[in-house]
Amino acid sequence: MNFSRIFKLNQQVKTIFIMALSATLLSPSAFAEDFILEGQRAAPVVGTQGMVATSHTKASEVALDVLKNGGNAIDAAVTAGFVLAVTQPRSGNIGGGGFMLISSEKTGKVVAIDYREKAPKAAYEKMFQDENGEVVKNRSRFTHLSAGVPGTVAGFALALEQYGTMSLADSLAPAIKLAEEGFIIPARFASGVKSREERLRSRPAGAKMFFKPDGSFYEAGDLFVQTDLANTLKRIAEQGTKGFYEGETANLIVADMQANDGQITLEDLKAYKASEREPIHGTYRGYDIYSMSPPSSGGAHIVQILNTLEAYPIREYGHNSAQTIHLMAEAMKHAYADRAEYLGDTDFVEVPLKGLTSKAYAAETRKAINPSIAMPSKDIKPGDAPTYESNETTHFSIADNMGNAVSNTYTINFGYGSGIVVPGAGFLLNNEMDDFSAKPGVANAYGLLGGEANKVEPEKRMLSSMSPTIVKKDGKNTIITGSPGGSRIITTTLQVLMNVIDHGMNIQSAVNAPRIHHQWLPDEIRIEQGVSDDTIKMLETMGHKVEQKSAQGAIQSIQIDDKGTMYGAGDPRRSTSLALGY
Ligand code: GLY
Repeated sequence: MNFSRIFKLNQQVKTIFIMALSATLLSPSAFAEDFILEGQRAAPVVGTQGMVATSHTKASEVALDVLKNGGNAIDAAVTAGFVLAVTQPRSGNIGGGGFMLISSEKTGKVVAIDYREKAPKAAYEKMFQDENGEVVKNRSRFTHLSAGVPGTVAGFALALEQYGTMSLADSLAPAIKLAEEGFIIPARFASGVKSREERLRSRPAGAKMFFKPDGSFYEAGDLFVQTDLANTLKRIAEQGTKGFYEGETANLIVADMQANDGQITLEDLKAYKASEREPIHGTYRGYDIYSMSPPSSGGAHIVQILNTLEAYPIREYGHNSAQTIHLMAEAMKHAYADRAEYLGDTDFVEVPLKGLTSKAYAAETRKAINPSIAMPSKDIKPGDAPTYESNETTHFSIADNMGNAVSNTYTINFGYGSGIVVPGAGFLLNNEMDDFSAKPGVANAYGLLGGEANKVEPEKRMLSSMSPTIVKKDGKNTIITGSPGGSRIITTTLQVLMNVIDHGMNIQSAVNAPRIHHQWLPDEIRIEQGVSDDTIKMLETMGHKVEQKSAQGAIQSIQIDDKGTMYGAGDPRRSTSLALGY
């Protein structure tokens, strides 16, 4: 495989680059719950028998109950995943998909369950372009064509069947109860619906689900009941995966597709299968890093960036010093440039994973990195820019006292996905088709470029950045982590690993610490609040453009020390995050 990069800037690239800069200026403002991180509590939750960290209090509570009642981490994970589909519909889901990493110390194996959505059989390469070949952005984001065939129910069923001890029906029981009897909504739920009011009201099923019968908003403290969703979950409990992929639920999905020019058919639903894949494996300073393989780009690029940084004395340079941030940003740029070129679904395209994750390739990359001067992104590879920002994926981490650890990230893509609720079924459809490359050189919602490797093809899985990650030391699970955040998932996860391994932080401090991000294009280091002004000035002197923006990611993490004590950390960036242990 030839890894030489294109350093020449042609006219077309120049145009894309100018578009990148102007689109960046149009980014919407931060959500209300993004807040200042300084002064956050930095003591993790401690346990010896089990630990859960999720983005919603209810999901953490039920997952801990499962562990206390003798269930394993996989049982707790699936139960939490179904509860999040009820209590956090903006990202918890049965209408989307995701990835689950499972590590068993007993077998020594780490496996990855791939339940990413698939393109319907009728999908085709130019489906998001008009007759002039121009990309019609909203078609891949807010129409029935934006939905991939959902994978969550198949993925959870596979995880339970292979690695759990509970039945699917038992794992669904708490979610059904919460949907049927309702739960008290927190402020984040109420403000989330308000922030997406137009989209959710635009169709009758969404208006019925997210607003009171008189059309007014649910407010924090109100009871939220979801009868349609409860019935959908009951059908899964009674009939297994057939209760979702066949029968009434499948008919409801397909009827809505047919009424709205969508593509998903009964055959697509029936054919959907989750897959078990080998995770990406790399090493970093004596730790074994396991993370998600394609169709996610996450694992490959976390390992690639860590490999690039391993030769530098990062601890000596200091956490978030200008020198450390500079080297991280340079390593990130190269990785994201490669992402655009090489990454896609390995069931359809060959991805040079061995090369990308090799120490030799990292050594080549280091030769291109000047330790004190930023290399302009235009000299690395062509690109476009983000037009939309979202942190609306969700992650949870779970560990039990039997040596099992689960790291799960799943999503419907944007907050509330496509905004389309399946009438009568009570759940939102994803808009994951936007993660395909609609056309080479045109960025997706996260400003990520793609090409041939990630073009739309029937039954293909769209490229993801989701990076559920498990780190082992001497054969023992030691860090379980992962995050939402679109393109920023990779760099968020990376920094929690570096904060623990390089900077010796406890897991809560590692989660709280201000983060940075560079994704090659736009050519800027994005930082959270909390990086000092003189550090920013030094970075600018090195040639970087530095932009302070809203909070990045919501990483729910667990650390386990060599004596088996577990430390849980909910991310304060998401107000409903909760780690619980016992
Ligand atoms: N939908 C965002 C991702 O999978 O990376």
